[in-house]
Amino acid sequence: MSVRPVIAKNCYPCHSQAGMGGLKLDSREAVMKGGKSGAVVVAGKPEESLLIQAVAQTHARLKMPPNGKLSVDEIAVLREWVRGGAMWPAANAGATQAASHWAFLPLKSSGEESIDAFVEKGLAAAGLKANAEADKRTLMRRVYFDLIGMPPTPADTDAYMKDSTKDAYAKLVNRLLASPQYGERWGRYWLDLARYSDGQLGANRDTPFANSWRYRDWVIEAFNHDLPYDVFVKAQLAADVMPGTDNEKLRPAMGFHALGPQGDDRVDATTRVFLGLTVACAQCHDHKFDPIPTKDFYSLQGVFRSSEIYQHPLADAATVDAFAAHQKKIEDAKYELDTFVQRRSAELSESLARKTARYLVATWKTAHGLPQEDKLDAEVLTRWVEYLKDPRKDHDFLKPYFDLKPDAPLAEVQRVAAELEKFIVGVHEERRRMEDRNYVKMGGEKGVRTESIRQYTNLESLEIHQYYLWRDLSSEAYKKDFLDFKGGVYFYGEKNIARWMGQEWRDEVKRLQEVYAATKKAAPAQYPFVHAVREGKKPANIRVAIRGDAKNPGEEAPRRFLSCLASGEQPAFKNGSGRLELADSIIAHPLAARVMANRIWQLHFGQGLVRTASNFGRLGMRRHILSCWIIWRRSLLIVAGQ
Ligand code: HEC
Ligand code: HEC
Repeated sequence: MSVRPVIAKNCYPCHSQAGMGGLKLDSREAVMKGGKSGAVVVAGKPEESLLIQAVAQTHARLKMPPNGKLSVDEIAVLREWVRGGAMWPAANAGATQAASHWAFLPLKSSGEESIDAFVEKGLAAAGLKANAEADKRTLMRRVYFDLIGMPPTPADTDAYMKDSTKDAYAKLVNRLLASPQYGERWGRYWLDLARYSDGQLGANRDTPFANSWRYRDWVIEAFNHDLPYDVFVKAQLAADVMPGTDNEKLRPAMGFHALGPQGDDRVDATTRVFLGLTVACAQCHDHKFDPIPTKDFYSLQGVFRSSEIYQHPLADAATVDAFAAHQKKIEDAKYELDTFVQRRSAELSESLARKTARYLVATWKTAHGLPQEDKLDAEVLTRWVEYLKDPRKDHDFLKPYFDLKPDAPLAEVQRVAAELEKFIVGVHEERRRMEDRNYVKMGGEKGVRTESIRQYTNLESLEIHQYYLWRDLSSEAYKKDFLDFKGGVYFYGEKNIARWMGQEWRDEVKRLQEVYAATKKAAPAQYPFVHAVREGKKPANIRVAIRGDAKNPGEEAPRRFLSCLASGEQPAFKNGSGRLELADSIIAHPLAARVMANRIWQLHFGQGLVRTASNFGRLGMRRHILSCWIIWRRSLLIVAGQ
């Protein structure tokens, strides 16, 4: 049991907003401040603390809560808490924590002229001295690797070693910063943060997006053209609605969300990448370490839910319409072909079902080495033999066959087989009747296709065990590894149905296949487009999902920025989804600059000042600036912009 819930449940009704007796108990500051009688907690000394005397009801007058008494355990928890110094548990430290956490504070000057002077002062204070400078060649290689990720060529090295002018080093740095490889190297770091990949794009896709490179190239260009960081951030979140910019030119930036993280991950990526905060930890409970209430997660989630991902065409409307119209033609041709084959296939399996008794008897004879007189299809018989080798099925309709004794007289086998045939034919007929009824329900009429045909709403289907029987015999879905074919015993599909068809039908299948192939071939190439994000049709707040469970909605979470990053209440976003306001809020907060400066530092010097580059929360690991300095002395100049 922890302290906060005990206090919240028993004392907040009167000692939070209401502050009865002049006492608030909802932050450490408030607890330490005390009430109208002065201090109520003496850290380390429970027996001297008014609060403990009140709850233990050992105080002559004051008995809390006034209308009852806490349990022995609850009192013990509070007593231990005071004994331990009355630290305030993280989950509720909210405002107080936010106000004091270093990463949330405004940026301030070190008071030094340059980073060098700042660091040297720190070194001196620690009684340390900087290492000697790296030699010219070593430094050059470092700069190459840092800026373009590749070593210098021998010719580059020679030229640089021979250059004895005073600003040789600065010229080298500037030349590399200006080279296209700089953007490729540094863009890649960013693309990793954006979870970008131009090949495999997640578990639910196996074909790469043909236009994903537009985002990749935009990022590279942004680094090469030194796009201001605020524009860089805002474009990736809200290029479509950024005022005073060329929205078309910036649109590829939206690949950040359109190509990368989807669903809930958008909150995670946005807050970790730009703010170094793990807001996604607040999806199911208030953040356990940082002052981020669950509600904040849903406030941001609401912004993304109010936006939609789409393909923004880079072609005129006529091209786009023509493409869509042709895609529909392809679908139609495929539909014609599939429907024709499916019907023939269903008819075939139904007629084969009417020979079930003969196949079963023949299977029996095969299994018992008896002579075979009946003329049956060899392939279908082989399928039966294989299918009946293993009596374990998802249904038990074939039990009478499996129960036959090895020495059962043939007449007995025939009788069981005939009964089974009757049942199996019945199942097939029932299945066909349902299909017909479903077909009509879906708006089908004598082969005339309507849009609703492919929707599966409220359709009848066989009782589940009968379905398994039908599936094993006549559906394409049935697959066992003992046979080298896909589908049930009586199933023949597009690939292998031809030998069961007369010439007319074969010709028809061939014709439909040709139409389909030709339509596909004639398709215009997909027009170029940008993976983009736009405002949703109905921007709306969403509700908190209690403990992360969407089926258990809680209070509404207004779309607004993180509460811990404001001194007062965050105002609700007013425009559309709120994406632009979110982007503005992010970039306006010093955290955004801190996080990016740290990333640049980390990628130049191997370690960030904050080692957890995507977590600037209380569990983030802040490092001492000196260790970086000592290793990389001269290279620091790049970051310092000198
Ligand atoms: C139903 C309202 C109510 C609840 C619940 C309640 N209190 Fe109080 N509390 C008061 C009132 C009213 C006073 C002022 C009473 C007085 O001075 O006689 C007070 C006074 C106090 C004081 C003394 C403050 C001072 O400076 O004089 C302490 C300590 C205190 N409460 C602790 C608690 C704790 C701890 C809890 C929860 C376990 C709690 N109270 C629950 C109403 C409540
Ligand atoms: C999908 C839901 C979900 C997400 C997301 C989630 N947690 Fe939890 N977490 C739980 C549940 C459920 C518990 C156990 C019950 C509780 O304490 O509320 C728990 C418990 C914890 C505890 C133990 C708390 C205690 O009081 O003992 C910590 C610490 C914790 N989570 C941290 C995190 C961090 C850090 C993240 C983000 C990286 C995170 N959680 C994300 C569901 C989640």
